[in-house]
Amino acid sequence: MIIGVPKEIKTHESRVSIQPGGVLQLKRNGHEVLVEKGAGVGSGFTDEMYIERGATIIDDVKEVWSKADMIMKVKEPIEVEYPLMKEGQIIFTYFHFAASQELTEAVMKSKCIAIAYETVEKADRSLPLLVPMSEVAGRMAAQEGAKYLEKATGGRGVLMGGIPGVPAANVIVLGGGIVGVNAAKIAAGMGANTTILDINIPRLRYLDDVMPKNVRTLYSTEGTIRNLLPTTDLIIGAVLIPGAKAPSLIRRDMLKEMRPGTVMVDVAIDQGGCFETSKATTHNDPIYIIDDVVHYCVANMPGAVPYTSTLGLTNVTMPYAVQIANKGWKKALADDAELKKGLNIANGKIVYKDVASAFDMEYTPIEEVM
Ligand SMILES: NC(=O)c1ccc[n+]([C@@H]2O[C@H](COP(=O)([O-])OP(=O)(O)OC[C@H]3O[C@@H](n4cnc5c(N)ncnc54)[C@H](O)[C@@H]3O)[C@@H](O)[C@H]2O)c1
Repeated sequence: MIIGVPKEIKTHESRVSIQPGGVLQLKRNGHEVLVEKGAGVGSGFTDEMYIERGATIIDDVKEVWSKADMIMKVKEPIEVEYPLMKEGQIIFTYFHFAASQELTEAVMKSKCIAIAYETVEKADRSLPLLVPMSEVAGRMAAQEGAKYLEKATGGRGVLMGGIPGVPAANVIVLGGGIVGVNAAKIAAGMGANTTILDINIPRLRYLDDVMPKNVRTLYSTEGTIRNLLPTTDLIIGAVLIPGAKAPSLIRRDMLKEMRPGTVMVDVAIDQGGCFETSKATTHNDPIYIIDDVVHYCVANMPGAVPYTSTLGLTNVTMPYAVQIANKGWKKALADDAELKKGLNIANGKIVYKDVASAFDMEYTPIEEVM
């Protein structure tokens, strides 16, 4: 199979879908990899590194799309890429179809085979191709929080770990899932007194067992959160209710209970945010201040660390990509129930229920296209 790797062109996207090591893996399985010139540069991988591993570098992105049996990307195709998708071509990337009817219709029209990273699902309902990005965002949340606690950026001027004789910062993490546990790990590692709040008792029990000594767990209620606010320096929002908008756990009136310069990092902003005053920001302009409280609400946090994010993402996507390339999409999906959940649109038909219902469009059972 010929696998094509176009350069990502969405704003602030520097990740790449295959790192040089992945090329070698595909070559060893008898496939050819075409990489658009400069596709890896944003993540720290030069064209020469790809050539060394056996890739062919192509100048013209149209040639990559027209020759490839499978396109691997990071972000969903954007408008200028719509005409490049072709009938029967496999496109393996993050699509997030439910967020865009225009993209859904363009992919249907192209009759390509759209396998979405975000819906590949394990039997325990976990989403293996989203996990590394949650890990990155969680760890970054503590790092960014520490940065914005500094005075020059509007923060309280508090050092996360304190020093001997001076108390450490108090950090609360709302949600003890993948983002939350990674945020807490870094905050605690910096020496902050860290509290994880969740509504899932078995999860709190587990975290109580495995987290370091300076992390405590609390059951999440409005009363508990309100009690913590006057002594908190950094709040990290990491809740998720699958399939729903994030709940507003910190409402506008609660900002008055915080000290000036408190920092709030809303990682759940991509699901609407878990603070009432959150609105999405970008890496170029990441913060704003309301009632003396610093808000950081970047929707694509992993985009700031493309080297780490690319390696984390490709570690989990490549085993599936190799299966698809070796067997063809029909057999690969038939053999692997996790990967089968990734198929969203094929031959112009929507085969993923949530996408069809998002736009009140016709749903076709997956068996009909396989
Ligand atoms: N901004 C970014 O760049 C970025 C990157 C990755 C993930 N995210 C987002 O981060 C959020 C968290 O993702 P995750 O992978 O950790 O999800 P997860 O499902 O692993 O964890 C969510 C946790 O929230 C808990 N929760 C639900 N309601 C709660 C409440 N009222 N109080 C306290 N806890 C509550 C759940 O019990 C669960 O443990 C999601 O919205 C995800 O989309 C954002």
